[in-house]
Amino acid sequence: MKAVDWVDGKLRFIDQTLLPAEERYVETEHVGVVAEAIRALRIRGAPAIGVAAAFGVVLGVRGMEVSTPLSVRFTKTVALLAATRPTAVNLFTVLERLQTRFAMLTGRSDADVMIALEREAQAIQQEDIRACRLIGELGAALLPTGVSVLTHCNAGALATAGDGTALSVVTTAHRQGKIKSVFADETRPLLQGARLTSWEMVKAGIDVVLITDSTAASVMREDRVQAVIVGADRIARNGDSANKIGTYPLAVLAQRHHVPFYVAAPVTTLDPHTPTGREIPIEERDPSEVTHFAGIRIAPAGVRVYAPAFDVTPHDLITAIITDRGVLRPPFGDAITDVLGQR
Ligand code: MRU
Repeated sequence: MKAVDWVDGKLRFIDQTLLPAEERYVETEHVGVVAEAIRALRIRGAPAIGVAAAFGVVLGVRGMEVSTPLSVRFTKTVALLAATRPTAVNLFTVLERLQTRFAMLTGRSDADVMIALEREAQAIQQEDIRACRLIGELGAALLPTGVSVLTHCNAGALATAGDGTALSVVTTAHRQGKIKSVFADETRPLLQGARLTSWEMVKAGIDVVLITDSTAASVMREDRVQAVIVGADRIARNGDSANKIGTYPLAVLAQRHHVPFYVAAPVTTLDPHTPTGREIPIEERDPSEVTHFAGIRIAPAGVRVYAPAFDVTPHDLITAIITDRGVLRPPFGDAITDVLGQR
């Protein structure tokens, strides 16, 4: 299963809104379809969004009227994709990287530019696959044998081009015989934990226990988990980490119960331009995602809703950040500066 892939010049992705009921793949040559898929969470998870956007740029530049100058096609495509979701920095890192590449291609023929952009997108995809593998290896080394892990949302293969981030740690540790069970928070309101993480774990043959988000405190107090591992959508320079709403309370609980709290993310999720979590833009979702469940209204018409899609875990609640370039430990500011300096 590949959440996002490039097949014969088309973006192929699994429509995650249909899981686990249906495993449907979509192939498209249209950047508009890619943008809608990101907005609607058909493609979701920070690294997968980045990879899809990279190929989206190729499709956008290729798909518009050839009478439109290439630079205009490029700028319009980047603007369309940049407006899809604001929090996952991987989207913007990828778009900036392609902008830099595009600027270096000034004077080359349109055909040459399109080939170069496609190659760059494929490089981004391959780098993500490699990052997932390395995160898995480095993270698994931190876990003792017989460990049970709690995770939130979905930071698995569905959220990346490769094996995932937090769940790559889990699957790698599972292959090493270390994992007893995975506790998956259902992750209100869109149920990425129930629908996606459980699906991935069942498929991988890993014992998975689904809990409602509010059960996490009891699970920790009853000593059922020995580590929390989550992904991230954006990590500020000081280590403050944005992830799916409901991650921050887990970190508070983990501190209270002396459970290590790990964030697993590729270095592309580190944001050099954002000093602290306070500056991370937090997406707000449509109220209907909270007032309705599977299309059925579960709250009265007229109720006001607050629906941030992400929260920020302060760096001092994080035990370590597992990246593809090493395991970062506090003080995270220095560790992140060092790792970004290696870019
Ligand atoms: O709204 P989503 O489903 O895109 O949110 C995804 C998450 O919060 C993930 O934990 C994060 O992107 C890391 S994925 C490797």
